[in-house]
Formats: sequence, structure tokens, C-alpha cells
Amino acid sequence: MNTKAKSFGFKALSPMKQAELARFWDERLKDPLAFVPKEDKAKGLSITEARMRNVLFGKFAVSYFKKVIARLTNNSDFDRRRLGNKKIMAVGYGRGYDSKWLRQATKAGFQTWWVDVSSVAWIWAMDNLRKQVDAMPQPIQAIHRESQVKTFEIQSLLADPSEAGLDVDSVEIWYLCRLLNCVSTPSAKVVLQEIGRTAFSKGHNPSKRKAVVIINALSDQNPVDTCDTCGGTSIRRSKRMILSNLARGAGCPVEARFVKYYNYFGKIVTAMTVMAR
Ligand SMILES: C[S@@+](CC[C@H](N)C(=O)[O-])C[C@H]1O[C@@H](n2cnc3c(N)ncnc32)[C@H](O)[C@@H]1O
Repeated sequence: MNTKAKSFGFKALSPMKQAELARFWDERLKDPLAFVPKEDKAKGLSITEARMRNVLFGKFAVSYFKKVIARLTNNSDFDRRRLGNKKIMAVGYGRGYDSKWLRQATKAGFQTWWVDVSSVAWIWAMDNLRKQVDAMPQPIQAIHRESQVKTFEIQSLLADPSEAGLDVDSVEIWYLCRLLNCVSTPSAKVVLQEIGRTAFSKGHNPSKRKAVVIINALSDQNPVDTCDTCGGTSIRRSKRMILSNLARGAGCPVEARFVKYYNYFGKIVTAMTVMAR
């Protein structure tokens, strides 16, 4: 478990907190109604209906992300990415509703990494990624670089990426779908600032292709109440909070591009791609 502090001023969560989060999410993810708002649970929503709504949400997220990968890829990127071992870093696998984009990532020259604090998610992710590779046509299988799935708490991973064998500079696209509302406010700020620093700060973004994809219900479009995706304890983030923390870490202005919306149980989910301005 990662406990080292980094020189730029934030620490891994304590081993006790990391273990507590891992236990919480291991339990929570086993519940098929895990991501359903409590008022809809109270109405007696069936497991089949909950699954269907999450599958549809996943389709929206995957379709959005595949388009973003395509828009951020031109003919010369494939070789550059493979030579530089460039990655997509996805944080928060959950039940994997939004995970079916491995083929597009591979065709664009990326290696795919998933990070999740839960070891239950690790088992599901490994299985799902293997199936996605098996379903690829042979020429794409041949260029696929083995995906990595890491059981890490995200702030703690960022505090010492070498512990996970990660060179953060090689991450070209960050993918955070329904994650930021599950992380405490201090941790969300630190995580966004550090991602902003490693993605956009001077000297870190020579290809100008680095991007942070965020898909989440935001407080901008939704009443400021708690959301219960993470057990009634989480807080919706605002677009401003997300952009300002990424920009703070980056030391340069950033902007949200390709903004799309999706209605999930009556809540408006925003999908956006943050890039250096
Ligand atoms: C609400 S689920 C979303 C999963 C998926 N992206 C989706 O939209 O269906 C959040 C996931 O993030 C993971 N998670 C929560 N807090 C985390 C943290 N601090 N570090 C790493 N993973 C975390 C949980 O284990 C869970 O699998």
C-alpha cells in the first residue's frame, strides 16, 4: 500500500483510509442497484431495469469517448503513440458499463490502463478486457499492447506513480467517468490539480493532444443536493471547480470541448473533454 509523500506537496491517503475505501467499494459494487439514485430504489426499481439504464448510460459514455479518441487522432499519432508507449488512463472501472472502447484505443495506438481501488473491480476488468481482446479482428489483436488493471486508490497512485510502474508523462488521455463525485472534496482537488500538472503544464504537453475526459452529473445542471451513486455521502462537482483545479495544476488556462449531455434517472450528466487552451 502506497504511503510515500511527494515533494510537490500532497500525500497518499493513509493505509487505513485506502483499505477502508477498498472495502467500501468491494461491497458496494456487488450490489446490482449500486449506481441507482435512492429515490428510484425506494420506488422499487427492478434489477433488470437498473441494469438496462446503466447499460444505456454506458453506451452513451462509450460512444462519446470513442468519438473523442477519433477527434484526437490523426495519421501520424499511431506511430508516435506506440513509440512513446502512450496511454489512456481510465480511473474507476466499477461494473464496467463504460468500458467497451478497447478496440478504438488500440487502433489509435494507445495502451489502456484501468485503475480502481476495488479488487472486485479488478477481477471484472481483467475478464472484460480479455474478452474484448478475443473479439478483436486479428490485425487489431496484433497491434494491441497488453492492457493493465491496477488496484490503487487514485490520490495515492498519483502521490507515487512509480509504485504502480506508471510513467504519468506517458498518459495522453485521462478518462474519469462517474468518479469525481465518489472522491472526497480535498482528494478531488488534489487529483485534478495533479492530473492538470502532468497533462498540461509547460513541457508536459508537446503533442498538444493531452486531454482529460470527464463524464459526471454536475451541480451546474442539477440541484445542489448530495448524489447517492457513492452511498449518499458524495457531492456533485461544478464545471468551474473541475476546470479551475485542472488549470491550477497546469499553470495555464484550460477549456472544456465536445460537451454533450445525457439524462440518467432524471439527472443531467455532462460529458466533456478538457484540454489546454
Ligand atoms: C460509480 S463507479 C463508476 C464506474 C464506471 N466508470 C461507470 O460509470 O459505470 C466508481 C468506481 O470508482 C472506484 N473508486 C472510487 N473511489 C476511488 C478512488 N479514490 N480511487 C480509485 N478508484 C475509486 C470505485 O471502486 C468504483 O468502481
